[in-house]
Amino acid sequence: MNIKSMKSELEQWISDYFDEKPEMDNRNFEAMIYSLKVGGKRIRPILMLQTYAMYKKDYRNILPFAAALEMIHTYSLIHDDLPSMDNDDLRRGKPTNHKIYGEAIAILAGDGLLNEAMVLMFEQCLDGNLNKIQASSIIAKASGAQGMIAGQICDILSEGSSISEEELLYMHRNKTGQLIKAAIVSGAILGNASKEDLYILNDYGEKLGLAFQIKDDILDIIGDVHILGKNVKHDQCNNKTTFITMYGLEKCKEKCKDLTQECFEILKKLQKNTVHLEEITEFLLKREY
Ligand code: IPE
Ligand code: IPE
Ligand code: MG
Ligand code: MG
Ligand code: MG
Repeated sequence: MNIKSMKSELEQWISDYFDEKPEMDNRNFEAMIYSLKVGGKRIRPILMLQTYAMYKKDYRNILPFAAALEMIHTYSLIHDDLPSMDNDDLRRGKPTNHKIYGEAIAILAGDGLLNEAMVLMFEQCLDGNLNKIQASSIIAKASGAQGMIAGQICDILSEGSSISEEELLYMHRNKTGQLIKAAIVSGAILGNASKEDLYILNDYGEKLGLAFQIKDDILDIIGDVHILGKNVKHDQCNNKTTFITMYGLEKCKEKCKDLTQECFEILKKLQKNTVHLEEITEFLLKREY
């Protein structure tokens, strides 16, 4: 299945999921759906589905997990944009959630998406399938205080102060890398991949996640707001420590390229058809949004 159709199937699944919810006079639901439907690359669910598809044909079976992951990511974006965090007014080419609904509702929309994701995964686990339970646990942990949130805390605390290279790596690995890695590893677990493959994919996920955030930092400097769909030079504005402030633009481009090359090398170790994962890896290096 090609990436484009997978993306539209996922978006359709999410849309149907919320359409089937009972009619409620609930501004929270409206705000949740706004940020979820407004766009985005859907890279995490696509990585999950494509990894799974290397092992099993019926990728539609794991759409609830893919949707849950996108909900968690979207919640992290809503909160990341809040005035008390990065104070952004543009996301996915549209006003940020709090600009439309106000801060209180935006916080609750994020909370709502996170909890809806957990509900989705718990419901999937009701049949007692151990792979589903393990995948859910990996996703929950990667999103939590030992994962994405740990990275976000580090990001906020490092504003205006200089941090070590080690701390920068820790921050990037967690705030972005963890969810990207979880997408890949959980997809493999749901597909019942071998321990050896899981090990290889874990390594791939770690490198891809790091490359992803370096590219995000690069785009903050050289991106075009109309293509990127979010404000540029914002990290500078917020006095953030990023890969750019640590190494400079040219070195970052090099690092991103090298990590991408390492990703290709890692994928070669798998005795599977990795063509779609290679395609995504290449896209993430070259992306302009
Ligand atoms: C942006 O993520 C936030 C980071 C973790 C760097 P994406 O670049 O995947 O954003 P969308 O989902 O495509 O909007
Ligand atoms: C955010 O990193 C990572 C998240 C967990 C949301 P950034 O703050 O760099 O993401 P953008 O640039 O606003 O998308
Ligand atoms: Mg941030
Ligand atoms: Mg931000
Ligand atoms: Mg950024």
